[in-house]
Amino acid sequence: MKLKILVVAGDGIGPEVTGEAVAVLREVAALGGHEFNFSERRIGGVAIVKDGTPLPAETLSEALASDAVLLGAVGGNEFNSLPPDKRPEAGLLQLRAALGGFANLRPAFAFKELAVNSPLKPEVTDGADIMFVRELLGGLYFGQPREWNRATGEAWNTMRYTKDEVARVARVAFKLAQGRRKKVTSVDKANVLEVSQLWRATVTEVAAEFPDVTLEHQYVDAMAMHLMNQPRNYDVVVTENLFGDILSDEAAVITGSLGMLPSATIGGKVDLYEPVHGSAPDIAGKGLANPLGAILTGSMILRLTAGLEAEAAAIRAAVRRVLEEGFRTPDLARSNPEGYQVLSTKEMGAKVREAVKTLLVNA
Ligand code: NAD
Ligand code: IPM
Ligand code: MN
Repeated sequence: MKLKILVVAGDGIGPEVTGEAVAVLREVAALGGHEFNFSERRIGGVAIVKDGTPLPAETLSEALASDAVLLGAVGGNEFNSLPPDKRPEAGLLQLRAALGGFANLRPAFAFKELAVNSPLKPEVTDGADIMFVRELLGGLYFGQPREWNRATGEAWNTMRYTKDEVARVARVAFKLAQGRRKKVTSVDKANVLEVSQLWRATVTEVAAEFPDVTLEHQYVDAMAMHLMNQPRNYDVVVTENLFGDILSDEAAVITGSLGMLPSATIGGKVDLYEPVHGSAPDIAGKGLANPLGAILTGSMILRLTAGLEAEAAAIRAAVRRVLEEGFRTPDLARSNPEGYQVLSTKEMGAKVREAVKTLLVNA
């Protein structure tokens, strides 16, 4: 199998975690006789500094010529005073728009080995397995008009969706639910917002195409609470861009760390893969970052873009194995009653590679 992957590592811990994800993918390729070609380009803050723009044309054209794009993270405190369209984050949003993927899959899975790291009780998180489907190309992030009018002291953004934009992401959610526990929870604010009323009506209409799947609706404020109280209650959760951004970070609490969450964006010209977390300036460059979210993101590339199910499963199993063996990065060892062995980013990556090798060789 041949695969052309563009790595846009970005800022902060981005290069640290994508480095480990790529190393794991190289191991898989070597063991299975696959040909994965990796190239690297700049995005975000590093691109602003070196190229004067957060998404250089060369990065975009290389992305469009690839089978998959793996992004680390973008953003840094030194760019905080820039307007939104000049910031590192703008590079990521432009890349998302250009690649065209509208369904951002963010699985949040509670490894029972990490229960001790969550402030939630193990009996609440045990077995939680949620697939967030975040709409990624609409809503407040892209709606026009948007402006900060300094003269009048007003600013506005627009939460806008068309019926087709809602229907296409809803279909992705229902199809995923058919292969899981057959339940979709649609999250909106239909008690206040017209755009959410359109959302709710459209998702309800699409549900009729999937009679084997149960649909429920939740308001986003209540959902934020239910997620912490009864995370096991949810299977596929579909929601608009900003609500999905917020709820998926909240779901990190169920898994034990934001550093555990992977994501994949599908439905466009080229699939885009990114861990859910950001550039983590507070720990960047210190070898403290958890690479498991990025490594699991690599597993999603294998499953969704390459169709290499067994290899993707081996990466997930390898992550479980290193956790079972008691290895942790610092974010996973806030409480350390069992005397876990705390590893650096690179050491954790090496442990996963070792486990992947054992699993694939003995498969
Ligand atoms: P963040 O996700 O970078 O960090 C939040 C907290 O989680 C921090 O305490 C951080 O140390 C911790 N954390 C995150 N990832 C971790 C990992 N892999 N291992 C261990 N700990 C981890 O969010 P933030 O601090 O709000 O934002 C920092 C910058 O990142 C901002 O510029 C923001 O815009 C950007 N950001 C980028 C992306 C992306 O590129 N996809 C996503 C989110 C935030
Ligand atoms: C994420 C991030 C991005 C988003 C930012 C950096 C643009 O928070 O991927 O969750 O809001 O989508
Ligand atoms: Mn986010």
